[in-house]
Amino acid sequence: MDKTSRIPGFHKLSRLERMDKIGLSDAQKKAVEEGLSLEQAEHMIENVIGFVKTPLGIATNFIVNGRDCLVPMATEEPSVVAAASNAAKIARELGGFKANASRPVMRGLIQLMDVDPKKAGDIIAERKSEIIELANRQDKILVERGGGATDVTTRALSTGRGPMLLVYLMVDVRDAMGANAVNTMCEAVSKYLAGETGGRPCLRIISNYATERLVSASAIFGRDELGGPRAVESILDACELAASDVYRAATHNKGIMNGIDAVTAATGNDFRAVEAGAHAYASRSGRYMPLTSYRKDKDGNLIGELELPLAVGIVGGATRTNPAAQAALSIMGVKTANELSEIIASVGLAQNLAALKALATEGIQKGHMRLHAQNIAITAGASGGEAERIAAQMVEEGKITVERARQLLGK
Ligand code: MEV
Repeated sequence: MDKTSRIPGFHKLSRLERMDKIGLSDAQKKAVEEGLSLEQAEHMIENVIGFVKTPLGIATNFIVNGRDCLVPMATEEPSVVAAASNAAKIARELGGFKANASRPVMRGLIQLMDVDPKKAGDIIAERKSEIIELANRQDKILVERGGGATDVTTRALSTGRGPMLLVYLMVDVRDAMGANAVNTMCEAVSKYLAGETGGRPCLRIISNYATERLVSASAIFGRDELGGPRAVESILDACELAASDVYRAATHNKGIMNGIDAVTAATGNDFRAVEAGAHAYASRSGRYMPLTSYRKDKDGNLIGELELPLAVGIVGGATRTNPAAQAALSIMGVKTANELSEIIASVGLAQNLAALKALATEGIQKGHMRLHAQNIAITAGASGGEAERIAAQMVEEGKITVERARQLLGK
């Protein structure tokens, strides 16, 4: 998008005004309001009976690699969109997020049984170029787009069920998440490997631990915008806790995934795959660690960094079939899967910073309570500004009940 993502008062607009403000076409409005049709849903999964809907919100204020960008987020959790927008507002003061995605290489696994791993490994090493060619014949379009299988390696395993050979097939999947392409290649290659080695192929499947498909994001958060030097120190203390205690690390990373999953889901991507990869990566040292790290710069500002594997695509699967996902991608204006993953990582970092800032200062309940109170006010029959006023009063009184909301509504 060419326009700014800084839209003061965006949250105060009505939903229709918001859609106009960000320039949605009538088709895009319909897409985000209606999403999938029942007929499309019937072709997606089995035994369809309906939908469980998730709200789609827009996070504002993001600048990623110098480009202003509005970010669609699908989440049922209050405060997530507001928190990401707030952190992005702080980051934009000092240039926004810098993010970088590596080449989109995914790893396929072929498990070969009933072989001498050493002999079979040698045969496979000799046939490497044939294997790559065979894999690439399975997906000519991917190869035309500059992707395709790039490497084959093996790993001999000695297991509780005897020796086995694990064959890794590395594939540049370009703008796809890659599971279909990689799984198809693995199945085709496994038949060839059986013939050449005499082994018995067992599993043939992509790995969601996408260590070759990493994305990093960083940003500088101004000391004063964070609440001053004390708040900065408290945030650093909070991070140190996450690095020292797995119980905290899990929740720290959960907060990151609040942002990452919301954009991943909004774009029709497989958030379970992303979650699996993220948590495996958090454990890569042998200990489960926070995915973000922070340090101070010479002016006392906070530099935040996040790195994780992110296997997301902009072609194939629900990214294509779900009209809301298509609208989400066009709202962000992304042209490649790498660009999408750079935005997603930036949102993850923003989400984490927002959570740490709240937790290390006023606590998170205050913000949550405001939204919770609004939900209660709406349940009691209030709407719009009325709901906000009633919610504000209930928060101030510290009494957030439907009964109290009804009383206030009566007044
Ligand atoms: C809640 O969904 C996420 C947080 O618990 C994350 C965190 O504690 O860092 C607020």
